[in-house]
Amino acid sequence: MQKTLKSHGTWIGKWTFVLAATGSAVGLGNIWGFPYKAGTEGGGAFVLIYLLCIVLIGLPIMLSEILIGRRSGNSPINSMKKSAIDSDVSSAWQGVGWIGISAGILILSFYSVIAGICLKYIFVSASSNDLDTAGQFLSIVNSPKELMLWHTIFMGLTMFIVSAGVKKGIGRMVKILMPMLGLLLIFMVVYGIINGAFKEALSFLFKPDFTKITSDTFLVAMGQAFFSLSLGMGSIMAYGAYMSKDQNIASTSVSVGALDTLVAIMAGLAVFPIIFAIQGLEASGGPGLVFISLQTAFNTMDFGNIIGPIFFILLSVAALSSSISILEPGVAYLAEEGYLSRTKSAIIISITCWLIGIGTAFGFDQDGNNFFQANVELISVNIMQPLGGMLIAIFIGWFMKESLIKDELGDINQAIYQIWRIFIKFVAPIGVGIVLISQLF
Ligand code: TRP
Repeated sequence: MQKTLKSHGTWIGKWTFVLAATGSAVGLGNIWGFPYKAGTEGGGAFVLIYLLCIVLIGLPIMLSEILIGRRSGNSPINSMKKSAIDSDVSSAWQGVGWIGISAGILILSFYSVIAGICLKYIFVSASSNDLDTAGQFLSIVNSPKELMLWHTIFMGLTMFIVSAGVKKGIGRMVKILMPMLGLLLIFMVVYGIINGAFKEALSFLFKPDFTKITSDTFLVAMGQAFFSLSLGMGSIMAYGAYMSKDQNIASTSVSVGALDTLVAIMAGLAVFPIIFAIQGLEASGGPGLVFISLQTAFNTMDFGNIIGPIFFILLSVAALSSSISILEPGVAYLAEEGYLSRTKSAIIISITCWLIGIGTAFGFDQDGNNFFQANVELISVNIMQPLGGMLIAIFIGWFMKESLIKDELGDINQAIYQIWRIFIKFVAPIGVGIVLISQLF
């Protein structure tokens, strides 16, 4: 049976969608992931390819997700179903929503553990001057009790905000969290300009060294662009469902994409000047970059016990405004089907994520590698997420009725519309398809 009712609220205020979608996009991916990947992949060349992936593939898919979500006003599963039925194609397209919700549960399970480590580091960097930061990091990740504590706290916060609903929970929180994040980030960049090796950081991030590009660079850049824009699993589609009809979808997508990219670059400009200012610290520190290298820098610099906690608060805030968007699609679905209240839906899905997260919390070995987490990430982020994105592009490019799309876009500039059509029909599915296939083999 098809639902005609909008089963959820609408964002209050013109900016709330942009704030919420930016909150979703900006997260661990930007502040923890982007700098370390830029570091290991060699800097400027990676940044350039990343930007291309955002513009050529990310933005067209983001526009599509918002469009499908807003048109139906339902959870991703029912939004896909409704758009498919209205286009006279198989309602099996709702499977895209199911892939998304499953991917989201897997992603949130380890996202919450890493965000928990960020919470823990607020206190570590405030009080500890332990110079063996690598040993300190390893002892933290090798303490499942510690990880479980912070994982539980982070998952609890996420559940609490989502269960409070769109207006009272998510909408209100992003209005507080996002400006806070902006201020903290500006502070960190200014600190880097004044006290760090800012010039070195600039040339590292913006002077492409093309000899460093390998086929892997493309894979990492595309995966990072997808993850960073929260695409392919319904976060953005679910938020689009709460967007009011008088807002422009195309320009909103561009705003969110631009803000997300700005924050990633600013995170790089916050992290690298500090890293380069301390002798012996390498840009290519890998996933431990902010927990080990940056913490070393906090230990050796003046006021490190204040700047450090500010940075990790920033990271935790960004993670929280993302984790709520990972939980939302599944909760919206259970709640709108009417089996369970929103609160009960949030509790059930959160407990599922929490349970799977136990595997990550107990999974770190002596060297900090995590076989369990790596595999959950492989299935969700490297396979299901691009698969979802590719299917969304194929659906809207080849199967959804163009009249429905045009109705929803309103009076969009024709040239922009045509460009988007070409990108969503050809460039996005082929680009993501290639990445997906290379992940598999
Ligand atoms: N984009 C967020 C980050 O950069 C994480 C995130 C939120 C996400 N929603 C998502 C990742 C949906 C994949 C899919 O940290």
